[in-house]
Amino acid sequence: MSNFVQTRRDGEVAVVVVNNPPVHALKHEVRQGILDAFTKANGDAEVKAIVLAAEGRTFIAGADITEFGKPPKAPSLIDVITAIDEIKKPTVAAMHGTPLGGGLEITLACHFRVASPGTRLGLPEIKLGLIPGAGGTQRLPRLVGVEKALDMILSGNPIPVKDALAHGLVDEIIEGDLIAGAVAFVRKALADKRPLRRVRDLEDKLKPFRDDPAKFDEAAASAGKRQAGLDAPRAAIEAVRWTLNVPIDKALKEERDTFIKLMLGDQSKAQRHLFFAEREAAKIPGMAADVKPREIRKAAVIGAGTMGGGISMNFANAGIPVTVVEMSQEALDRGFKTIEKNYGASVKRGSLSQADMDKRLSNFTRATSLEAVADADLIIEAVFEEMDIKKKVFTELDRIAKPGAVLATNTSYLDVNAIANITKRPQDVCGMHFFSPANVMKLLEIVRGEKTAPDVIATAMNIGRKIGKVPVVVGVCHGFVGNRMLSPRQTQAERLLLEGAMPRDVDAAAVEFGFPMGPFAMGDLAGLDVGWRIRRAFGLRAEIADSLCEQGHFGQKTGKGFYVYEQGSRAGVPNPEVETLIAAASQKLGFKRRPIDRQEIIERLVFPMINEGAKILDEGIAYRPGDIDVVWVYGYGWPVWRGGPMFYGDQVGLPYIRDQLHEYAKRSGDKSLEPSSYLTKLADEGRGFASLADAAKKSA
Ligand code: 3HC
Ligand code: NAI
Repeated sequence: MSNFVQTRRDGEVAVVVVNNPPVHALKHEVRQGILDAFTKANGDAEVKAIVLAAEGRTFIAGADITEFGKPPKAPSLIDVITAIDEIKKPTVAAMHGTPLGGGLEITLACHFRVASPGTRLGLPEIKLGLIPGAGGTQRLPRLVGVEKALDMILSGNPIPVKDALAHGLVDEIIEGDLIAGAVAFVRKALADKRPLRRVRDLEDKLKPFRDDPAKFDEAAASAGKRQAGLDAPRAAIEAVRWTLNVPIDKALKEERDTFIKLMLGDQSKAQRHLFFAEREAAKIPGMAADVKPREIRKAAVIGAGTMGGGISMNFANAGIPVTVVEMSQEALDRGFKTIEKNYGASVKRGSLSQADMDKRLSNFTRATSLEAVADADLIIEAVFEEMDIKKKVFTELDRIAKPGAVLATNTSYLDVNAIANITKRPQDVCGMHFFSPANVMKLLEIVRGEKTAPDVIATAMNIGRKIGKVPVVVGVCHGFVGNRMLSPRQTQAERLLLEGAMPRDVDAAAVEFGFPMGPFAMGDLAGLDVGWRIRRAFGLRAEIADSLCEQGHFGQKTGKGFYVYEQGSRAGVPNPEVETLIAAASQKLGFKRRPIDRQEIIERLVFPMINEGAKILDEGIAYRPGDIDVVWVYGYGWPVWRGGPMFYGDQVGLPYIRDQLHEYAKRSGDKSLEPSSYLTKLADEGRGFASLADAAKKSA
């Protein structure tokens, strides 16, 4: 008997239980175990029905992603599914937790599916740059209908069990003991002589689409939001379309071929890298196993501006009471007006009920005195980005906050150690750097100061996950990981203008690369005054952006920036005044304007970021290259299918990047473009960033 799959008997019912914790990924031994168990039960005359279940916290959550790209080993998942599909005794899948991907596809070969309350079922392959590869694209539409299947496959999001029941994906929700319930269910099916329908033979729900193929395009268009540039969504739509006009066996084979093609392609490789990078980022090297996060029952946020409002919403949404403190009643009212407007928009869109909005609002306490945070377990400061003000706030917090409270700053650039050292409890201070809009963006940089206690980091990570963020630990430096790497990109973007490009050229190249918008459109959206203020504080200047600000042009909010925004429109058109300004600036600073091609623009934007990332790794500001990738994908819209800047750097090849940076530095006279000593070293040694990740894993 397999170590991973055991069969026990409950009278005439065989119960096959999978046990490959934590999520029963379908590695080779598990597939073999399931196949053997079903073959044996099928051949045993005393067995009248078979139940498939799993131990622990979940039913099978999918194929084993670590096996992808390695030589396949029989039996394949399709072999297992085909064998189950052929069985003439009633088969029932008993699900709990998260039956996902290949795990759910196995259940689609069973005659019946039952599940515990709380089960969430899905086909998340799209999130890995894949389509379901073991029959999901063919069986799911037959069972739940084309619209629901497209929605599930294209979004990759799991659906709650009640929804699954309503769409026929689940036959019954079992309260209480799942396996006992599944056995009772199948006994009743036997007694009632319920017909044993195979999902692959169902046709009813396909008929309306076969009769009217245009309906399919409508369904595909309305299912899920699709990110431009990704191959998998297009492939998934085509695969589901085969249910209408391709015989199922042929379609299953084509599904498999498409799956393998995608699996071997760069996009899926990048998305799988991110899947594991995100999970690695949750592990803190050197953190003792017995470090426990502090309990956070109450939170507080200081400042209800752009960031404070969004940050506090995260806590209210997660059901954690949160006190928001502002300087004046007026500022507080302004902050809450925005919070209420944001919730109201969700209610209007239908993504939040009025009752839930009211419930969330009831989690807020409004205050104009810092004394109100005395009972908070976590206090996040989000006041103006000025050291003196932050120091004053932290001095007060030191006096007011209860012992053991975690004191966090949302600063973008300031020295977290200096802020911590103003208190008598620097061990309790860390950075919690959210991204705008803070109630939406998933990234959370947790800044570890030189004195921050390990359990404070653990607390910040833990609460970060609870409020739905992807936390990444970073060290103290100017701009931490994300903003620090953004800086050379901004510098080059501006520099490209001086050398000969126009904002639209740079932005178009960035969008072609896969960013949701280019650096200039982004600047206009965020407000050009933000960067201007920061540069002034640090004695820096960006000739063109700063000239715009000096003329009162801050981007979208003033109707003019790098682009012109007619009557509050969000889509800018080129600003002729900027073009004149750029030409004059080039002349003033002695640049001879020249045509700059797309490749140079992209490389000049992206390679300096990779170069900065190398320095960040060298200095130990990020633990692993994958952490940097997670920061850029979740915080700055780096295209997922390019896996993050460090992954992309390895794909392009560090020797090429080294040589190009050197070449651009020479050509443009900008010394900041020279490759760093660390990137050069890695390139010279023929190593990539991935070698650092492997080393970090070994030493952990
Ligand atoms: N393969 C290999 N390892 C996996 C895995 C998988 N499918 N799913 C999870 N793991 C690993 C994680 O890497 C992690 O390992 P670690 O502890 O060493 O870091 C461990 O299992 C636990 O995972 P999480 O930390 O993510 O645990 P959670 O409880 O937070 O989440 C989950 C559980 C919702 C199942 C989540 O892990 C998940 O979404 N997994 C991926 C599911 C998926 O994408 N399935 C489809 C795979 S592709 C497929 O099935 C192809 C088919 O169509 C042929
Ligand atoms: P903001 O100007 O919109 O809000 C700051 C708020 O703090 C104001 O409402 C102000 O009245 C209040 N405030 C100032 N001093 C206070 C005090 N002593 N007590 C209580 N309230 C006080 O600024 P924003 O953009 O929200 O930035 C806040 C912090 O977040 C800054 O450190 C900034 O660098 C950081 N940040 C900003 C991001 C952004 O995109 N805006 C992104 C990430 C971090």
